Amino acid sequence: MNSFEELEAVRQSALKALETASQSADLTVWEKTYMGRKGAVTQQLRSIGQLPAEERPIFGQRLNEIKAELQAAFEARAEEIKRRELARELEAGAVDVTLPGRPVPAGHHHLTTQTLRRIYKIFGQLGFEVYEAPDVELESYNFDLLNIPAYHPARDMWDTFWVAPPEEQDADEGRLLLRTHTSPGQIRVMRERYPEPIRVILPGKCYRYEQITARSEHQFYQVEGLAVGREITITDLIGTVHQFAELFYGRGRKIRVRSSYFPFTEPSIEVDTNCILCDGQGCGVCKYTGWLEIAGAGMVHPVVLENGGYDPAEWSGFAFGFGVERPSMMRYSVEDIRLYYGNDLRFLRQF
Ligand code: DAH
Repeated sequence: MNSFEELEAVRQSALKALETASQSADLTVWEKTYMGRKGAVTQQLRSIGQLPAEERPIFGQRLNEIKAELQAAFEARAEEIKRRELARELEAGAVDVTLPGRPVPAGHHHLTTQTLRRIYKIFGQLGFEVYEAPDVELESYNFDLLNIPAYHPARDMWDTFWVAPPEEQDADEGRLLLRTHTSPGQIRVMRERYPEPIRVILPGKCYRYEQITARSEHQFYQVEGLAVGREITITDLIGTVHQFAELFYGRGRKIRVRSSYFPFTEPSIEVDTNCILCDGQGCGVCKYTGWLEIAGAGMVHPVVLENGGYDPAEWSGFAFGFGVERPSMMRYSVEDIRLYYGNDLRFLRQF
């Protein structure tokens, strides 16, 4: 085989090797085998020196043509392999956009939150706005300004969690506690709104230093109501509570009013509705009386109006307060109030 034939043989074998190359790694090997420093084509270049002088230019020219041809063929092949490899990669990592997504577990509101929202809606329809007062309260707001002086035996009705005062607190302001009822909010709204008439509900958590049992927790919700105006009478109170009972417990509710005592109202009443479970026939929930107590209420005591900044000679008002867990306990026959704070999903998921 003369040198020209040898050169053609290198060309043939290089083109063939390119044809069979199927992946990037083959291309690297090919480049090294033919075009690299010790590659076959480079060897051909080196052999020029051994040719007779007159053949050298023709050989050199042919060699350059072949080099250019191989380079072009290499690039074309490389392009093709790259494209194929990319397609394969895309296919392997493909996302099927038609697959259904994984469901995101959605929670729902706690039974108490659901109850509160129903209450807000009902009172919203009756023209009451929601007013929020603090959980950590001054002793004076929780007791004294509500006509419950320190010596008064009624304080025993509200066993109290005391709170250590922050250092920056003004000593004159008195002691701090966790509110034992939502009633101190009455003083706060009055002092803020005077001399406007008032129609608000004051929802929130209350705290009492009590033994925890199936019937009593040391934390629970109340919703307080307060209306202050120029000509408010006890019939407005009874009408409002009756409206609420019908909207909350269902149409046709009867209510019953009993005389009672609270230091911050005069006169004071307790309101019952006919039992929501037995409709007044008598059952375990109403202890066979046919009635369930739903709220404490009364006409705002003159001393309390005055402490709120409203002159009792000109203004009058009514107030009421009721629990939030108790009504839903009755409604769903929940026998243990501790379930409301136990975070047991088996309970919470039922509502
Ligand atoms: N604050 C009372 C309690 O926690 C409930 C109450 C009774 C609120 C009568 C009132 C009211 O506004 O008029 O036991």
